[in-house]
Amino acid sequence: MPATPASTSLHPLAEAANAALAKDTPVVLDLLSERGKRMFFPAKGILAQGAEAKQKANFANATVGIATEGGQPMHLACINQYYNNLKPAEIYDYAPSFGRPDLRQAWAAKQRAETPSLGDHPTSLPVVTNALTHGLSLVGDLFLDPGDEALSSDLMWENYNLSWETRLGARISTYPFFDRNLTGFNITAFTQALAERKGRKLVVGLNFPNNPSGYSPTRAEAGAIVSALTAAAAAGTKLVVVCDDAYYGMFFDDGVEKESLFGRLAKAHPNLLAVKVDGATKEEFVWGLRVGFVTYGIANGTKAAYDALEQKTGGIVRAYISNVSMPGQSIVLKALQDPQFRAQQAQKVAVLKSRAAVTAQHCRKPEYADCWDVYPFNSGYFMCLRVKKTTAEAVRQELLAKHGVGTIALGQTELRVAFSCLTEEQIPEVFKRIAEAIRAIRTA
Ligand SMILES: Cc1ncc(COP(=O)(O)O)c(C=O)c1O
Repeated sequence: MPATPASTSLHPLAEAANAALAKDTPVVLDLLSERGKRMFFPAKGILAQGAEAKQKANFANATVGIATEGGQPMHLACINQYYNNLKPAEIYDYAPSFGRPDLRQAWAAKQRAETPSLGDHPTSLPVVTNALTHGLSLVGDLFLDPGDEALSSDLMWENYNLSWETRLGARISTYPFFDRNLTGFNITAFTQALAERKGRKLVVGLNFPNNPSGYSPTRAEAGAIVSALTAAAAAGTKLVVVCDDAYYGMFFDDGVEKESLFGRLAKAHPNLLAVKVDGATKEEFVWGLRVGFVTYGIANGTKAAYDALEQKTGGIVRAYISNVSMPGQSIVLKALQDPQFRAQQAQKVAVLKSRAAVTAQHCRKPEYADCWDVYPFNSGYFMCLRVKKTTAEAVRQELLAKHGVGTIALGQTELRVAFSCLTEEQIPEVFKRIAEAIRAIRTA
């Protein structure tokens, strides 16, 4: 056998992180991909030396690769004119690879306040990511080797395929999201999919509110999902359960579970690592700011194990993008600290809730029964139609060509409508036009 090149042997810091996991949460070490096992944060590297100097270099700090002037990051007036209430250090300086510590603390406090089930169970601190796409992709990097299986509902955000399958060579298997009568979450199919994979390693993606359907589980369904996963873990399946909470907080129905399942999953079983991928993108209506978070929780989690996971996560952030936009992080932090934040957010959620109600009323009109079934929706930005006797792509094209209406075709028959982008006045006309388009295609 050829000797292993030195560059592929484990760095001592990776070994130390792996040893911490092996001691306190051994299943997490098993769950890591080969890349995840190799990953570490260069604790003595440039960033760490710079951070140390920031604390201690009281005469001159000649460490970090920015330029300073008058004790502030150097900057141009033609750029600075666009920032009104941020200081140069809150805009131009590099953020740490793990994210601004104050933002991480503030987000952790927000998560805990919104997730009473967590109680005082320890979790990692959130690591800042370049919004949720980056969070999901680095979770894939850390836990998916080529050929590994990830389980998702058939209704899912298409970028999972690009990130985890195309990029990493993992395989995504699906189960039907809704039951046959379209009444709710298909817990039977989900439980069966878990049973078929008993004893293996499995990454499970849970996305509620769901893109594209706009469905979140009821409280009873949420309990059943947690029970099914806990039972699978108890039966020996080693699980990474990724809670993609992109649309968290957009709940429009009293019966919906309003807590992230992360709360219960984080303390469910030592065979189940819960990963919360969330962020400001949709919740705070800042799509372009690119601020998200990855947070870990496991029943037997310890400070040492969470540190190891944070180090690996911070290391992979450093390797790909070094760090996340400072202005984005500063603005999200200021929003979290603003006494007006919650009221303003609630006001926007109320606007979406009204649009969802108008949508529900119009899409279910009996006169459209021949055109589509409506997938249940109660949350998020979207709803989804299952078009009858034609394809979603044909309808999409007809809508664009003849009706000036843009929709998204997914799979054979799913047509996604983002009511988040429609005024209440537009909604009745949009569904009227979708029906006209479907009927025109059928008679063509
Ligand atoms: C389910 C889901 N997860 C993650 C994302 C990614 O969000 P971000 O813009 O924060 O990367 C989206 C965006 O559309 C999404 O729908």
